[in-house]
Amino acid sequence: MDAVTLREEIERIDTLPTIPSILQKLLKVIGNPKVPLSEISDCILGDPALTSRVLKMVNSPIYGFPGRISSVTQALILLGLNVVRGMLLGVSVFEAMEKAMVGLWKHSLGCAVTARIIAKKKNLREPEEISVAALLHDIGKVVLSLKFPKEYKKARADTEQQGLFIFEAEKNHFNITHADAGAWIAQRWNFPKNLIETIKYHHKPHLSKYFPVEAATVHLSDILVRAIGFGFAGDNFVPPINPSAWEILKMNNSTIKEILKEMEESLEEAEDILVIPNE
Ligand SMILES: [Fe+2]
Ligand SMILES: [Fe+2]
Repeated sequence: MDAVTLREEIERIDTLPTIPSILQKLLKVIGNPKVPLSEISDCILGDPALTSRVLKMVNSPIYGFPGRISSVTQALILLGLNVVRGMLLGVSVFEAMEKAMVGLWKHSLGCAVTARIIAKKKNLREPEEISVAALLHDIGKVVLSLKFPKEYKKARADTEQQGLFIFEAEKNHFNITHADAGAWIAQRWNFPKNLIETIKYHHKPHLSKYFPVEAATVHLSDILVRAIGFGFAGDNFVPPINPSAWEILKMNNSTIKEILKEMEESLEEAEDILVIPNE
C-alpha cells in the first residue's frame, strides 16, 4: 500500500465498524475545533464511565489540580478545549482497544506524568499541552493496530524474534512508523500544530522545526518511562536518549535523577486511572 492510500485508510479510522457508536459520536465532536464547550460536556456527561474517567484524569498528577476539579465544565474551563479534546481522544481510542493495549495505555499515562514533571522543571509554558502531547505520542500504534490488526501483530512479533524496536518493525511492515500515523490522525482531528509536531518527532526531536523543546520533552519522557518499566511500549528495549534532546533541554545526570525521583512519587497515583469503573 502506498503512503497516500495508507494515510487515507488511517484517517477514516472513525468509520471502523469495530468502534462503538458512542465513541464514533465522541470522535465527531472532538474532531470539530469549533465545537462549543457545552456540546463536549454534554457528550461526556451522557456517559457515566467516561465522566468518571475524565474527572479522575484531571485530578491526577498528570495535571496540576490534584483533587480540586469536581465537574466536567470546570475541567474544560481550567484545562482548555485542546487539552480536554486530546485527553478524550486518548481515553476513548485506548478504550476501543479494551484490554489488548492496556500496557500501552499505562506507558502513555506514565509519559504524560513525566512530561509534566520535566515541563515544570524547565519552566516551560503550557505544561498541560505538553502533557497531552505525551499522552497521545504513541496514538499511532493504536490506530495502526485497529486498522491493520493482523499486520500489526506480525510487526509486534518481529520485535521479539528479530530484536527490533517497534518503530523499526513498523517501518518494515508499513513503510511508515506510528509517529507518522499518529501525526496524520492528530491533523485529521484538527489538533494544534505543537501537538501534531510533537507526536511526529517524538523519536527524532532534532528534526522538529517549531517545537523542538516539546518534542525533546516527550522523547525523554518516553525513554525514562521505558527505562523504569512502567507499562509496555511495544517492545522490550530501552532506546538511547537522542543526543540533541540533552542539548535542547539542557539536561544533566543530576536533573535526570531528580526527575526519576519525582516520577516514582507520581506514577503510583496515575495508575489509578487504569482501573476501569464499575468492574
Ligand atoms: Fe513512540
Ligand atoms: Fe512511547
